[in-house]
Order: sequence, then structure tokens, then C-alpha cells
Amino acid sequence: MEKTLIIAKPDAVQRGLIGEIVKRLENKGLKLIGIKMASLDEAMLRNHYAEHVDKDFYTGLENFMKSSPVVLMAWEGYECVDAVRTLVGATNPRQAVPGSIRGDLAAGTGRNLIHASDSKKSGEAEVASFFKDDELFEYDKSEYIHVYEENERG
Ligand code: RTP
Ligand code: MG
Repeated sequence: MEKTLIIAKPDAVQRGLIGEIVKRLENKGLKLIGIKMASLDEAMLRNHYAEHVDKDFYTGLENFMKSSPVVLMAWEGYECVDAVRTLVGATNPRQAVPGSIRGDLAAGTGRNLIHASDSKKSGEAEVASFFKDDELFEYDKSEYIHVYEENERG
């Protein structure tokens, strides 16, 4: 089953929106397979945001991501990477559609509450990079039969 990494960023922690974010992902029917709080350091952030380290917004992004702890989550579901990106909304929250997490709850690109993996490959790699094997959980989710058809449950 496809995996995706969510980071509830420092603004989500500071604004008390962790429960709201978890609720939206749970309501979609996705399976939570790992969750923990962490303080991200420079090395972790440079690795995570490798495609952005040379951009002019990177220093501000790194400083912001180090400004308080974050909540890391691994979620699983059929084609969940794209499903979660849609739930999260556009990078610039002012352009994110109402109903999406950023569209409803955020207003600044550098304060957009949440990171979500952007491809199946990055979902696998990011979950493996932030979670040890014993921090990830395999279990049957009974409601899955009411969320997905048989061929989608893998
Ligand atoms: P993310 O990686 O955090 O899930 O967000 P994303 O895919 O929607 O956006 P991405 O292009 O990967 O950018 C990563 C994060 O960098 C900040 N950013 N600031 N000031 C700017 O022009 C700018 N562009 C990007 C945002 O916090 C964005 O989420
Ligand atoms: Mg991104």
C-alpha cells in the first residue's frame, strides 16, 4: 500500500491545529501507521528540502522549520500521495481551494501548516528517512472494507 509523510509544521503546532489535521486525514479513511513529535535540525532539513537548498527562500524555510517542534506522521492508503496532496491544497494557501487544509486554515506560503510527500517514490523515501522500522505499525483497519473496494485494498 502507498505511504506518504506528513509534517505538521511549527505553525500547526503553535496554532493548535494538530487535531484538526489528523481529523481531516482520518475522515478521508486513511490509515495512520506512525506518529511522533520531533525537533528537526539543519542536516535533516537540508536532506528533506534538498531540491530547495539553493533557492532564496531556503534560509527562511529552514529557520522556520527549526523554530519549534513538528509532528511527523506516516499515513497509508490506496493512491494516498495524490489524495493527500489534494486534501492539503496548493503551496500558496491564498490560492488553495476552500475545503483543503491550506485553503481553510492558512494564509502565507511560508506558513502553510503542513508538508506532504509529492510522489509515490518520495513518500516511500521520506517515511523511511523519518521513521525507524519499529516506529511504523502494520495492522488491519476494520473500516477499510467500507473505504476501499477489494482491488484497492491490496
Ligand atoms: P511541502 O514540500 O512543504 O509539502 O510544500 P509544497 O510541495 O507544496 O511546496 P514546495 O515547492 O516543495 O516548497 C516547500 C516549502 O517551501 C516553502 N516555500 N516558500 N517563499 C516561497 O516562494 C516559497 N516557496 C516554497 C513553503 O513552506 C513550501 O511548503
Ligand atoms: Mg514539496
